[in-house]
Amino acid sequence: MTAQINKSVTKLPESQIRHIMELGHRMEGVIPLWFGEGDEPTPDFVKQAAIEALNEDKTFYVPNNGVPELRQAIAEYMSTLYGRSIGIERITVSTSGMHGIMLAYQTILDPGDKVVIVGPIWPNAVHAAEVLGASAEIVPLRETEGEWKIDLDMLFDALGNGAKALFINSPNNPTGWMAERAELEAIFDFCRKRGIWMVCDDVYARLVFDGRRLAPSVTELAEPEDRVIIINSFSKSWNMTGWRLGWITAPADLLLSMAKLTEYNIAGPTTFVQHAGIVALRDGEAHVERSRAAFEERRDLVYRRLSALNRIGMVKPKGAFYAFFSVEGESDSLALAKRILHDAGVGLAPGTAFGDVGEGYLRLCFAASPALLNEAIDRLERVLA
Ligand SMILES: Cc1ncc(COP(=O)(O)O)c(C=O)c1O
Repeated sequence: MTAQINKSVTKLPESQIRHIMELGHRMEGVIPLWFGEGDEPTPDFVKQAAIEALNEDKTFYVPNNGVPELRQAIAEYMSTLYGRSIGIERITVSTSGMHGIMLAYQTILDPGDKVVIVGPIWPNAVHAAEVLGASAEIVPLRETEGEWKIDLDMLFDALGNGAKALFINSPNNPTGWMAERAELEAIFDFCRKRGIWMVCDDVYARLVFDGRRLAPSVTELAEPEDRVIIINSFSKSWNMTGWRLGWITAPADLLLSMAKLTEYNIAGPTTFVQHAGIVALRDGEAHVERSRAAFEERRDLVYRRLSALNRIGMVKPKGAFYAFFSVEGESDSLALAKRILHDAGVGLAPGTAFGDVGEGYLRLCFAASPALLNEAIDRLERVLA
């Protein structure tokens, strides 16, 4: 039977994070810190907007690139945030960040193309390319002098060796690495000169710490016609993971292709959800800042406590909501994640879920209450002492 289905799909690995989660669900009292989502529900003003949209019968098909009022709201939001004029003709609404990545890849990749990806990386970036018959080459971030660093020479070597596209996620899931503006300038310049597409996953752009409010982005550098596709999502900053809503900023001449692809997949995100998105952007600034500040406090708590443990090595994350740490003497992260689950009742994601370069690390999502984080770290202390 499997011989008859798409070979790229047969080859896809199962998610190691889900594997740990399934084991954890069979146990009592597990503290689940395996997934990447906030612990709070969607704010009331967004829920209310969806209810009103339903009552106003926003229940019909809409254009494939999205409800025009939402595209306009996104264009204005992006223009204000990045101080660039970004027009509605560059905006496509997507059914989440994951769908945005798939749409971007479907638009630019042919089977056999190579995508260079800065890793460790959240698995979809790799596997979405593989689904399309493209290959992914990881260029690893390195942990040096207490920081995650990108090696630009290594990146340029990989890109220069026949890459069609670069995928870069900053702030990064799982490491919390954030590209600095000068690094992005150098990368953008290299890609632009060689006609290499950049797919930039900016879903954590607003979740940055240490006095910053916004991560550097290629959005600030690219001209409208540059080969740059920026992926954004309502999931993380507006607590809307289950709504499945995001957007893509791309050169205007890609929009027709994206509309066609959307048509043949889903014909766009749910209509009343798109209307709620308008309100999330319009009235959501206070919420975004509140969550950012809450995540920073939790980052500080987790960093202070984990880095005080003798066997744990950890870089302080600059953005997103993950602690990515190694444990001295442990080289099999899947086995370690299972042991921690059974012995401590704490659910963590093994580093290998983020590629071979993640081996030796574990990821803890700190988007949980301080009380729960403290309890989880108390338990880890007992097991890892
Ligand atoms: C780096 C990164 N990009 C994109 C996403 C996708 O988010 P969503 O599909 O919920 O918008 C995630 C979710 O964990 C992520 O970590």
